[in-house]
Amino acid sequence: MATITGAVMTAHVPAIGGAIAKGIQQDPYWKPLFDGFPPVHAWLARAKPDVAVVFYNDHGLNFFLDKLPTFAVGAAPEYRNADEGWGIPTVRPFRGDPELSWHLIESLVADEFDITTCQEMLVDHALTLPMALLWPGGGEWPVRVVPIAMNHVQHPLPSLRRSYHLGQAVGRALQAWDEDARIVVLGTGGLSHQLDGKRAGFLNKPFDLMCMDAIVDDPEKLTRYSTVDIVREAGAQGTELMTWVAARGALAGPVRKVHSNYHIPISNTAAGLMVMEAA
Ligand code: DHB
Ligand code: FE
Repeated sequence: MATITGAVMTAHVPAIGGAIAKGIQQDPYWKPLFDGFPPVHAWLARAKPDVAVVFYNDHGLNFFLDKLPTFAVGAAPEYRNADEGWGIPTVRPFRGDPELSWHLIESLVADEFDITTCQEMLVDHALTLPMALLWPGGGEWPVRVVPIAMNHVQHPLPSLRRSYHLGQAVGRALQAWDEDARIVVLGTGGLSHQLDGKRAGFLNKPFDLMCMDAIVDDPEKLTRYSTVDIVREAGAQGTELMTWVAARGALAGPVRKVHSNYHIPISNTAAGLMVMEAA
């Protein structure tokens, strides 16, 4: 049977890709972000995942406003990155796991989630940068990936409650997978940030810290916030919290926090990082 080794949640600010390309991780601006990751690397070395199931949000690379699924699951043998216009290098392709993807898709549809299935899928910075932060240094990616894209671009967005339920359904499917694989679940984005409009630059540290506590011990509490509540409390792009909540949902039962880091700002974003595993 498959084992879920735990979850990692991290910000995915595009500028991180520039910092990695320039090798300036130890510059004063970047150090507080990158210094959060060695404990994650140590945990990954113990957890030894074979697969990463990644809850993330596509920002217009693979889906655009003309066709935007609420939830989309990748079922490709390989996922490529492409230029999104941020001026950061594209990263090398990721190996997929079509067998796990189809198992997940079968299970989610049976569980009444009307997902979109993607046998071709470009993956944007929200998937590539967390992968580069977790497994730095180039070479072959040590895990296969199954991307799960969530709409945070065009309202109505899926609620945190719906996102949590999606995560729980994914967790049930992973646990029922009849393969001897070790699976890490990722949630990427957030925490508070707003990139445009009158409140551009808005951050909310007390709200972020509340979320980082609640996601460990009381994720149901977060599911009581509506999308409008989240936009107000965490900024328009703070809705990326949905990916963290989905990843937490995939870990059934009580969890314990292994590691966390929080630094503001990175670009316009409150950069949160958490690792958790079954208690
Ligand atoms: C920034 C943050 C994001 O989550 C994103 O997708 C793009 C930009 C930023 O803070 O610059
Ligand atoms: Fe984003």
